[in-house]
Amino acid sequence: MPSPPCAPDRVRRVACIGAGVIGGGWVAHFLARGYDVTAWDPAPDAEVKLRRLVDAAWPALEQIGLAEGASPDRLTLAPTLEEAVAEADFVQESAPEKLELKRSLLAQLDAAAPAGVVIASSTSGYPMTDMQTEATGPGRLLVGHPFNPPYLIPLVEVVGGEKTDPAAVEWASAFYKAAAKSVITMDRELPGFIANRLQEALWREALHMVANGEATVKDIDDSITEGPGLRWAFMGPCLTFALAGGEGGMGHMLDHFGPSLKSPWTRLEAPELDDSLRTAMVDGCDEAAAGRSIAQLVAERDQGVINVLRATGRLPEQRNEGGDK
Ligand SMILES: NC(=O)c1ccc[n+]([C@@H]2O[C@H](COP(=O)([O-])OP(=O)(O)OC[C@H]3O[C@@H](n4cnc5c(N)ncnc54)[C@H](O)[C@@H]3O)[C@@H](O)[C@H]2O)c1
Repeated sequence: MPSPPCAPDRVRRVACIGAGVIGGGWVAHFLARGYDVTAWDPAPDAEVKLRRLVDAAWPALEQIGLAEGASPDRLTLAPTLEEAVAEADFVQESAPEKLELKRSLLAQLDAAAPAGVVIASSTSGYPMTDMQTEATGPGRLLVGHPFNPPYLIPLVEVVGGEKTDPAAVEWASAFYKAAAKSVITMDRELPGFIANRLQEALWREALHMVANGEATVKDIDDSITEGPGLRWAFMGPCLTFALAGGEGGMGHMLDHFGPSLKSPWTRLEAPELDDSLRTAMVDGCDEAAAGRSIAQLVAERDQGVINVLRATGRLPEQRNEGGDK
C-alpha cells in the first residue's frame, strides 16, 4: 500500500459514504471535531435527511464541546461517489449491511480514492477478509466499527482482513484517536468483533428467557438498568467481578465462584477454567487496576454508581420526589 497522503493527526477532509443512521452519525461526529466532510448517498432524499440528522445532533455536540472552527456548514454533499472521495484524506463507508453490496462498493471506493487513503467500513460483523475480495488495492481496506450514535459513543473497533496492510490498521487507529474516539485495535478477525459478541451473548440469553417464560421483557431490562448496567458505564465486567473477590480480587473471585461455571446459569457453555485462563484473568485485572488497590477501586466504583444514579435521577431521594414517602 502506498503511504497515506498525510499523518493521522493532519487529516482535514473525511468522506462519508452512505448517510443513514450510522453514516449520518459519523458525519455529525467528524463535523463536530472540526473536519471538512463530504458525503455521498444514492437515496434521492439523502441530503434532506442527513442535514436533519446533523441539525438534531448539533445541540448535543455543542453540549459536549465542539472543536475550533467546527460547523455544519463544512458539510458538502457530492453528486457521485468518485467526487465524494476525490479530495478525501480518509473514507468511512456506512452502506447497508449486505455482503455483495459492501464488496463492490469497497472495490469502487478503492478505485476512486487517492493513493494511500485509508478506507474503513462500519460493518457490524462482516470480516474484512470477506469484503475486500473484489478490490485491486485491498491493503488499505479495514473495519472501523462504531456504536450508535457515533457522535456520542466513543468506541471504535479497528481490525484488518487477511489482505489489509498492518500499517493501514495502525494509521486508522491513530486517526480515530486524533478524532477523539476510543479505539480498540484487534490483531485478528473475529465475527462480531468484541463488543457485539458480548452484547449478543446477553441478547440471546434474554431471548431464551422470554421464549421460555422465565422473565418478562421488563424484568430483563430492569435487571440491567437497575443492576449491573449501573457499574458497566465506568467499570468493565472483569474489573467489576474482581471487586466481588474482596481483598483477594480476581484470583479469589475465580477460586470462589469457579465451580459455578459448571452450573446451568446460562445456555452459553463456559470454557475450562484452567491455570492459564486464571492467570490471564488475574494479570489482566492487575494491569487494568494500574496500581490502584482494591480499596481504591471500591471507592471509585461506589462514586461512579452514585454519579450515574444522580445523573439519571435515580438516587433514593430523587426516586421519591413527588411521591409518597
Ligand atoms: N445501526 C446501528 O446501530 C449500527 C451500528 C454499528 C454499525 N452499523 C453498520 O453501519 C452500516 C450502515 O448501517 P445503518 O444502520 O446506518 O443503515 P441505514 O439503512 O440507516 O443507512 C444505510 C444508508 O446507505 C445508503 N445506501 C444504499 N445503497 C448504498 C450504496 N450502494 N452506497 C452507499 N450508500 C448506500 C442508504 O440510502 C442509506 O442512507 C451497516 O454496515 C451496519 O451494519 C450499524
